[in-house]
Amino acid sequence: MLVTGNDILIPARAGKYGVGSFNTNNMEITEAIIHTAEKLRSPVMVQMSEGAIKYGGQDLANIVIDLATRATVPVALHLDHGSSYESALNAIRMGFTSVMIDASHHDFAGNVAETRRVVEAAHAMGISVEAEIGRLGGIEEHIVVDEKDAFLTDPAEAVQFIEQTGTDYLAIAIGTSHGAFKGKGRPYIDHARIEKIAGMTGIPLVAHGSSGVPQEIVERFRAAGGEIGDAAGIADEDLQRATGFGIAKVNVDTDLRLASTVGIREVLQATPKEFDPRKILGRARDVMAQVIEHKMGVLGSVGKA
Ligand code: G3H
Ligand code: 13P
Ligand code: ZN
Repeated sequence: MLVTGNDILIPARAGKYGVGSFNTNNMEITEAIIHTAEKLRSPVMVQMSEGAIKYGGQDLANIVIDLATRATVPVALHLDHGSSYESALNAIRMGFTSVMIDASHHDFAGNVAETRRVVEAAHAMGISVEAEIGRLGGIEEHIVVDEKDAFLTDPAEAVQFIEQTGTDYLAIAIGTSHGAFKGKGRPYIDHARIEKIAGMTGIPLVAHGSSGVPQEIVERFRAAGGEIGDAAGIADEDLQRATGFGIAKVNVDTDLRLASTVGIREVLQATPKEFDPRKILGRARDVMAQVIEHKMGVLGSVGKA
């Protein structure tokens, strides 16, 4: 069933488990996400970035909405990193049931003002809202945040921000970053900060940049001819601890990009004569489903729907 973000995330926060919010860009990714959620009886969020909307538009949104509506578990369609009020409103018009307004590059007052506008409009239509405070290292959408400017979320500011905006859930900067290179070895996660923010706030918290970049997938990527440097993601134990403290929405894109490319590369390498897209993309869908299944197990959402 197609539901709002609040329908999924409020129970997750109360039950101290995390729900994966996976980025989609095509039918195979969408099927891997929603069919795995049904198999495992897990709630799930499917998110489209502005880039995904540019690529797949209403065609792709309709695929998600149709699969979600027919699904036997709760599914929300979420706008990832909406960059403006207009972008959030456009997504709501397209049928999204959850939107992110990412005004975290503004100063505090500017972030509050832009977020409030979106909250007022979205709530009038029964749609829930994610906002962000603090900055992730690395690249956020089209905004390049210099590592030395990157700063983690201040707990007192998070409390003020929630009071002043009425946002339904809040993305916090806790040391994660987007992409396949989250640092050397084990990336740093500020668990004490998560615990403190969760203790001072009641709403679901969101972790961006939560791909695990599984080493098995990285090895297979290399073995099938892919080139990738010292890729590293968030350790399963770190993510599990974070969900126990109050991280309810866990954003994952990179892992599915890697998994789908591994599937495609392996088929093409093993069978150079193959040119049936169903064989090639079907294998990509299977590898993504395996990665999603593992992630749902780590997050504790299995059996919650
Ligand atoms: O956080 C960013 C997501 O990974 C989406 O990336 O803008 O390339 O679709 P994208
Ligand atoms: P990853 O790059 O770790 O998959 O993070 C995705 C994300 O945060 C999308 O908003
Ligand atoms: Zn993100």
